Amino acid sequence: MTEHKIPLAGVIGHPIVHSRSPRLHRHWLQTYGLDGHYIPMDVAPENLEQVLRSLPKAGFVGVNITVPHKEAVMQIADQITDRATLIGAANTLIFLPDGKIHADNTDGYGFMENLRAGAPDWDPTSGPSVVLGAGGASRAVVSALCEVGVPEIILTNRTRLRADKLREDFGQRIRVVEWVQAGNVIEEAKLVVNTTSLGMMGQRELRVPLDGLQKDAVVTDLVYAPLKTNLLLEAEEAGCVTVDGLGMLLHQAVPGFERWFGERPAVDSATRAAALR
Ligand code: ATR
Repeated sequence: MTEHKIPLAGVIGHPIVHSRSPRLHRHWLQTYGLDGHYIPMDVAPENLEQVLRSLPKAGFVGVNITVPHKEAVMQIADQITDRATLIGAANTLIFLPDGKIHADNTDGYGFMENLRAGAPDWDPTSGPSVVLGAGGASRAVVSALCEVGVPEIILTNRTRLRADKLREDFGQRIRVVEWVQAGNVIEEAKLVVNTTSLGMMGQRELRVPLDGLQKDAVVTDLVYAPLKTNLLLEAEEAGCVTVDGLGMLLHQAVPGFERWFGERPAVDSATRAAALR
């Protein structure tokens, strides 16, 4: 008789207590009546490789990777998808039967699925997207926007060098403008994306003048705590469609869950409620 093994997955970060992923994956496991466990793991950087190599032997089929390990894991993985290579970071690992570690980045996918669900009328080819911030999250957003054929990405970041580096990596479609110029380029945008940590609970507000914003522009924020950032509230007041950041977190988790537990989970209002609990 073959032994039935219950698949184990989880999330590795340092720290990990704030992660919403366990609630989310456990909600899906319960909803679909699946055997499986999803375990949060606090792993210090110096132990990352050893832990990753030992998890498959302990019955793990894969893990999510979060701050601060998303870049470091690229040095450990045996196989890396093109999109993870381009972004320079991975958030989803699959432990293959031959012991190899396969690394993917689903953040750009999560961003785009969330945007499509929240702003179905947004046409990527209708005009430029303004992206605020040039950190790790911005790289995933920019790669997703390039993939769907946005004609121009106007990129601005407090530290100009990081924005220039992104242009070097993603090409001529990116126009870099100074951080203080952000308000001046807003009027060109069909989409505005905040990828900075400004507006997050405990952080300063993002202050960008939205006066020139076009009525049919869509405004989205990667910040999801609070759900309605100042940027989104002001954009709503200006009559624009807005999309909060929680959906990106939910959608980026879908490919990993499907691969590990064999069921493609739905992202709906019950999923949102479970992640917020
Ligand atoms: P993430 O992976 O979430 O993108 P990150 O790589 O640390 O995290 O990037 C954080 C982003 O928020 C960057 O664009 C950062 O700007 P810098 O590159 O200049 O650091 C931006 N950010 C954070 N605090 C900021 C602040 N007080 N003012 C303006 N931008 C800020």
